[in-house]
Amino acid sequence: MAPHRRINISSIARTTAPGAARTTAERPRLRAGPYRGAVAAETEWEDEAENWIRWARTEGHDAYWAYRTSFFDRIVPAAGAVTVELGCGEGRVSRDLRDRAHHPIGIELSPTLVGQAMAADPGGRYVRADASRLPLADGCCDLVVAYNSLMDIADMEAAVAEAGRILIPGGRFCVCVTHPINEAGRFDSRAADARFVVTDTYFGRRRFEATEARAGLTMTFRGWSYALEEYARAFERAGFLIERIAEPRPDGSIADLERWHRLPLFLHIRAVRP
Ligand SMILES: C[S@@+](CC[C@H](N)C(=O)[O-])C[C@H]1O[C@@H](n2cnc3c(N)ncnc32)[C@H](O)[C@@H]1O
Repeated sequence: MAPHRRINISSIARTTAPGAARTTAERPRLRAGPYRGAVAAETEWEDEAENWIRWARTEGHDAYWAYRTSFFDRIVPAAGAVTVELGCGEGRVSRDLRDRAHHPIGIELSPTLVGQAMAADPGGRYVRADASRLPLADGCCDLVVAYNSLMDIADMEAAVAEAGRILIPGGRFCVCVTHPINEAGRFDSRAADARFVVTDTYFGRRRFEATEARAGLTMTFRGWSYALEEYARAFERAGFLIERIAEPRPDGSIADLERWHRLPLFLHIRAVRP
């Protein structure tokens, strides 16, 4: 990783222009829903912020807890000088990065979520900003992480391009997204041997909206589904070279995820900016 002296973070802004919003995490039963328009899209995560905070902070409730070790151990490189996390939400990934000796700057569009991230981690750095229009200098970091956020950023391609712009040469872009294959359908139950039914079109970019209620918590997820080719094209246009792709299995810490040993729930990607 690059030494600290090559990093210029002097132009980080305190506030930001609006961008867009929606969601992710273990994607529940996906149902196509109406696209509510660009203006509504900007507030979607803010509207769900309180639900998301409860969802994300209830340990073991969503799949994050069963997949994070694989992401941090197999995808994320050793800590360098500055890590930028795109779409940090209430901050759990940035906090986990800090626990692993990284120096993250969490970028988040929702004011409530970025405020909660700051409150939970007073020594951390969090900026309210649109990931597709980052208020950060070219070459200001050596690692960008986007954990379950590329599906939720209205202009996914612009966010990938921004990751390329703010990375130094040799910097890495580490991504977790819902695996494109499972966006094309759903399991017909939560059983280990449940049938996976293809209900949708795999190709292209599709809008989704789904509400999941489980164990006393409710969350409405909204965003976009992409084919693998759409992500690959965004990386290619931004000048990235993909150096690792992983289809992680759950680590066994959550009993309800056995079916995801038969089909990938998430896709992990590590790319390098040449
Ligand atoms: C599923 S959450 C993931 C949060 C966190 N990375 C985690 O895994 O717990 C996706 C986040 O992306 C944020 N987001 C969506 N569009 C954004 C944008 N244009 N710029 C910055 N953040 C955005 C949402 O507000 C939300 O907090």
